[in-house]
Amino acid sequence: MNKKTIVCVVGARPNFMKMAPILKEFTTLKEQVTPYLVHTGQHYDHDMKASFFQQLGIPEPDVDLGVGSGSHSEQTANIMLRFEPVLNTVKPYAVLVVGDVNSTIACSLVAVKKQIPVLHVEAGLRSRDREMPEEINRILTDQISDRLYTTEKDAEINLRYEGIDSSRICFVGNVMIDSLKANLEQAPPFAETLKEYQKPFNNILAGKYALLTMHRPANVDNPLTLRKLLMSVVAVSQKLPVIFPIHPRTRTKIEQEGMKELIDAGNLICLPPVGYLQMLGLMKSAKMVLTDSGGLQEETTSLGIPCVTLRENTERPITVDQGTNTIVGTDPDKIKACVDDILTTGGKSGRTPEYWDGRAASRIVADIKKHYL
Ligand code: UD1
Repeated sequence: MNKKTIVCVVGARPNFMKMAPILKEFTTLKEQVTPYLVHTGQHYDHDMKASFFQQLGIPEPDVDLGVGSGSHSEQTANIMLRFEPVLNTVKPYAVLVVGDVNSTIACSLVAVKKQIPVLHVEAGLRSRDREMPEEINRILTDQISDRLYTTEKDAEINLRYEGIDSSRICFVGNVMIDSLKANLEQAPPFAETLKEYQKPFNNILAGKYALLTMHRPANVDNPLTLRKLLMSVVAVSQKLPVIFPIHPRTRTKIEQEGMKELIDAGNLICLPPVGYLQMLGLMKSAKMVLTDSGGLQEETTSLGIPCVTLRENTERPITVDQGTNTIVGTDPDKIKACVDDILTTGGKSGRTPEYWDGRAASRIVADIKKHYL
């Protein structure tokens, strides 16, 4: 039988934990499929890339396009220019993309123009906020995808509303939770991570700290919003210590805008971006997570840890309806009220959404087998 090559694309940090279980699952079809891994190089720092590959057991990419940073147009255009020759050489049967980053839309667009089927994992999520770059990436990628794999049932409603035929949509569950379930036991205790970064750890107890991440342009690019959020977080840190692994975008803005002193005034433990396992370890012992990340909203729902989302909306409403997530935005009073509620009542408990069971990748690969092999 002729083996078929499927190009699998990763580019930025949240892609790695989504792709890892799919690549593993492809090994069950190794007589029929050869995955060809392309890393666009959108994220290139060791902290944002290499440690994830190692920890998640992702093989070395077959090619690294090395695009690096730039404006959205530069980054997207550079990825497209460098991705097309790969398709010309590899001649894949399909291109599989995950999530909603610039690499996702860039590679999908190149593939569809060459009439290569695009398979989109994590399709149909909508925040209805078109100022968010990821929302544009989601809508456009879904429109040009041949098969659309969804993490929650509402995603199908969104897609059908946008005119996508239900025969192309397949509800498979959440591959990010596949990675979480496969790796949780290997996650180092939070104190070990603090020790690794030479931070004080003896006076911080499991279940008695908050974990913070923040990197959305809407939150960090505007100095007024960033200052307001940091002040809220400093206030939270007077009630319980806040561990804060800082994304490069956020660190740059904090430094540029002279806000380092503001952070130093609080009970914040600042770290560089940590590895995937370290992050799971920090998350699972936290009293609560404050974040603007999409992935953390899902991971906290799976772990049953209260999540305070520092955004006005979410593309992952199931984490609010069924999970532990509360959308508070950037209003200091709302952040305070939500944090106080979690400290007093323990916060939302929630339940695990359907198919967030660690088997999403196997459903995806089964579907690929049915439709393409
Ligand atoms: C990207 C994704 C976002 C995702 C996030 C996770 C898009 C539109 N956004 O945002 O959905 O949640 O990744 O991290 O694709 N930088 C480094 N080292 C790196 C990568 C970036 O220092 O390895 C710095 C650069 O200064 C860069 C900035 O971070 O300009 C932002 O990086 P970029 O890839 O543009 O987007 P993210 O904000 O990381």
